[in-house]
Amino acid sequence: MRRKSVLTVGVFLVGALVFLAEASFVTGGSAWAEGHGEEFSKNERRVHDHTQSTLDHGRQIFRFDTFGDEAFWGGTLHLHQAIAGAQNGGVGAGVSPKTALAVGLKVDADALPWQLKAQLSAGRVNLDDPATTLALLKLNAVVGVTGFFDNAGNIRSMGVQCALCHSTVDDSFAPGIGKRLDGWANRDLNIGLIVSLAPSLSSIADLLQVDVATVKKVLTSWGPGRFDAVLDKDGKAFRPDGGQAGTLIPPAFGLAGVNLHTWTGFGSVPYWNAYVAVTEMRGSGTFFDARLSDPGQYPVAAASGSFNTRGTPDLVTAKLPALHQYQLALAAPKPPAGSFDAAAAARGKEVFDNQGRCASCHVPPLYTEPGHNLHTPAEIGVDSFQADRSPTHMYRTAPLAGLWTHQKGGFYHDGRFATLSNVVEHYDTQFTLGLRAQEKTDLIEYLKSL
Ligand code: HEC
Ligand code: HEC
Repeated sequence: MRRKSVLTVGVFLVGALVFLAEASFVTGGSAWAEGHGEEFSKNERRVHDHTQSTLDHGRQIFRFDTFGDEAFWGGTLHLHQAIAGAQNGGVGAGVSPKTALAVGLKVDADALPWQLKAQLSAGRVNLDDPATTLALLKLNAVVGVTGFFDNAGNIRSMGVQCALCHSTVDDSFAPGIGKRLDGWANRDLNIGLIVSLAPSLSSIADLLQVDVATVKKVLTSWGPGRFDAVLDKDGKAFRPDGGQAGTLIPPAFGLAGVNLHTWTGFGSVPYWNAYVAVTEMRGSGTFFDARLSDPGQYPVAAASGSFNTRGTPDLVTAKLPALHQYQLALAAPKPPAGSFDAAAAARGKEVFDNQGRCASCHVPPLYTEPGHNLHTPAEIGVDSFQADRSPTHMYRTAPLAGLWTHQKGGFYHDGRFATLSNVVEHYDTQFTLGLRAQEKTDLIEYLKSL
C-alpha cells in the first residue's frame, strides 16, 4: 500500500518534470536552453549566472572605478582645481566644455537628463563656462573622469577610469557627445596636455629627477591619442632622435584569444590591467613584476620600488577577474557597410593570405599568432627604441580586427605610418614583395574591412 503510493507520487513527479521541461522548451526558456533544446543543469546555470554577473561587474569597473586614484589625480596633482578654474574655487582659467571636448574628453549622452539635452540642442547651455564642466562631472557624464564634490557642491577631488583612454562615444547627440563605445581607443584624447594643466606636478618631477618645466615639455610632446606607460619606469622621455616617446592608445576590444598584450607584449590582459590601475592611474593596489627591478633597464622603477607596489587598501586585485572578463567580452566591431569597397576587399584578402604574406603573422581571425606573438624589431624593419623599453625587447603582432576604428594617429606603436598605404609600402619594401599597385589598393580595402 505504502510502496504503491510512493510509486504513484514518483510517476506523477516524472510526468510533471517532463511537462515542465516541454513547457519551458515551447515557451523558450533562456536563449541558451532554446538553442540546445534542453534546460540548464544546476551547474550550468551557476556558470551562466556567474559569467553574466561578472560581466556586469566588469563593465561597471571599466567605466566607473577609480581604484582610489583620486588620491593621486586630485590629492597630489590637484588637477580638479585646474578644471574648476579660479572662478569656481580652483586655479587659472578652468576647463570649459568646449576646451574639454577639444582635448578629446567625451560626454556620455545617456547620463544627461532630457531637460539638459533640450537646452543643449537649443544652444542655451554655456559651453565656454567651466561651471558647466563641473555640472557635467556632477552628472557623472564625462567619460572616464569622476569628480568628487563636498556638501556645498564644490569639487574637492577627481579620479580617472579605464574608459578615459579606452572608450569613446558614437557622436549621436553632437560631436564628442553620444553613447559609450567601450574598448574603442580614444585617439582624440590629449592626455598629456590635460595632465600638464595640473597645478602640482612636482611629484612627477621628483620621480623623474627633472624640473617641472621639463615634465610639462614631455607631457605636451605626446599629442592626441598617445600616452607613455613606461616613462615612470625607465625615465626615457624622448627617443634618441628627439621624437616623442609615447605610444598610441590601442583598442581594448578584440583581445579574447590573444596571448600577449601591449605593443611590446609586456604580458597578458590581467597583467597589464594591474600594471595600469596601480602604477599609471595610481589606484591603491598591488602590482609585482621582478623584471622591472632591473636598474639598468628600469632605473626609475628600481629606485621608486614601483615594480613591487603594495598599496593599502588593495582596491584593485579583487576586481581583476571581472575587469578581465569584460574586456574579453568586447568583440571587435565590424565596419559599417559602405566604408570600404567590398569587391576590392575580397581581392585584398587573397593578397593578405598569399602574395603579401601578412597572414603568416596576422593569422585570421585573431590577426595575431596563436602562441608567442612577438617579433624582433629587425624582422618587421623598425628601430628597437620602444621594444627595448619592454622586458621582451620585441614587438607584438598587432591584432587587426576593428582596425577601421583607430586610423586616427597613424599605425604601428607610435603612429609612424600615417596611412595604411604607408604601412603597405613599408611591408612591400621590407619583405621585397613586389606587389602591383592594384594589389596594394585591394590590400588596403581588406584592412579597412576587418
Ligand atoms: C591614460 C590612458 C590610459 C588609461 C587610463 C588606461 N590605458 Fe590601457 N593603454 C593605454 C596605452 C597608451 C596602452 C599601450 C601601452 C603600450 O603598449 O606601451 C594601453 C594598453 C592597454 C591594453 C593592451 C591592449 C592590446 O592591444 O593588447 C589593455 C588590455 C589595456 N590598456 C587595458 C586598460 C585597462 C583595463 C585600464 C584601466 C584599468 C586602462 N587600460 C587604462 C592607455 C591607457
Ligand atoms: C613578421 C610578422 C609580420 C608580418 C609578415 C606582417 N606583420 Fe603587420 N605587424 C607585425 C607587428 C609585430 C606589428 C606591430 C608593429 C608595432 O607595434 O610597431 C604589425 C602591425 C601592423 C599594422 C598596424 C596595426 C596598428 O594597430 O597600428 C598593420 C595595419 C599591419 N601590421 C598590416 C600588415 C600587412 C598588410 C601585412 C602584409 C603585407 C603585414 N602586416 C605583415 C607583424 C607582421
